[in-house]
Amino acid sequence: MSKILVTGGCGYIGSHTIVDLFENGYDVISIDNNSRSDAGSLNGVEKITGKAVKNYKVDLCNFDDTHAVFEENEDIEGVIHFAAYKAVGESVDKPLMYYENNLNSLLNILKCVQEFDVPYFVFSSSCTVYGNPDVIPVTENTPTKPAESPYGATKQMGEQILTSFAKIVNTQVVALRYFNPVGAHPSIEIGELPIGRPQNLVPAITQTAIGKLPKMFVHGDDYDTRDGSCLRDYIHVSDISHAHTLAIQYLEKEKNSSNYEIFNLGTGNGVTVLEAIRSFEKVSGVKLNYEVGPRREGDIIAIYANNDHAVKSLGWEIKHDIDDMMLTAWKWEQKLKE
Ligand code: WQD
Repeated sequence: MSKILVTGGCGYIGSHTIVDLFENGYDVISIDNNSRSDAGSLNGVEKITGKAVKNYKVDLCNFDDTHAVFEENEDIEGVIHFAAYKAVGESVDKPLMYYENNLNSLLNILKCVQEFDVPYFVFSSSCTVYGNPDVIPVTENTPTKPAESPYGATKQMGEQILTSFAKIVNTQVVALRYFNPVGAHPSIEIGELPIGRPQNLVPAITQTAIGKLPKMFVHGDDYDTRDGSCLRDYIHVSDISHAHTLAIQYLEKEKNSSNYEIFNLGTGNGVTVLEAIRSFEKVSGVKLNYEVGPRREGDIIAIYANNDHAVKSLGWEIKHDIDDMMLTAWKWEQKLKE
């Protein structure tokens, strides 16, 4: 049974990916210092799969502590690296904290992957690397533009680091560019746990609907889109997480055509903010209390994925539509209130 190390395993996408890896016959360990996550997420993983996950509460910025995990687990076949700070707005206010954390943790994990000759490495990247694209949908070959935030810059730099790294090691590397991950596992045992006032659209919707927030604001409806609000490619977290398992299997079967490949993980369908709100109101039966407010600085106007590469090469199938994303997000919010 191949052992996979998931960094950030207590996080939103990390915990969902551990469920998928277990369901596909992998053994899994996690490294997560819980600075931005709740260790309780792994209890949810155990409820779903019946399997306990060993989490090493280690700061990946501490090389010696990170190295010790590899010394104790010489049979690590693959690493899936999620652990990073990811709040776009916070990264604008605290750029050095973002560069230090996201880059040092990546460099330390890669040093260990190289020293222990780990066969496979999957990197959590982001559609933010495209910046504001001139043409949509974007493919993996769409030129990246200057990142709109230090967070996006750390993902661009991460991909640059991997380009050089993959040239000098045996490790086979994949970068997965997520679009907008939303929703919760169908069991409603795990989901998104935003810290503080949610910046992202879907938790803002569900927290407003359940009364944790008095109202929410649509950040602008005067953009050049079909209804004036920004357009995104929302993708269910379970579809995102299964793509990680498929990426490991793709590398195990040596189907990759180069030692570093990039995949877009989006549905290929654009949805506007107002359309997302309509979908939520339809599936929840809740009339959402929102107001159109000013634009949010740094917002991409419109982006969605061309996902042909992931669909064709990884055999990836999208199983959840926007209504399902909204319904599972809503059920999770209701569970948090219990
Ligand atoms: C989506 C749209 C907002 C809140 C995210 C992650 C980023 C990356 C890509 C992984 C925008 C609007 C939001 C609200 C609103 N993911 N909005 N009212 O900015 O696309 O970036 O996905 O790497 O890490 O942050 O997502 O959910 O913040 O915003 O109108 O209360 O919803 O203006 O148009 P974004 P988001």
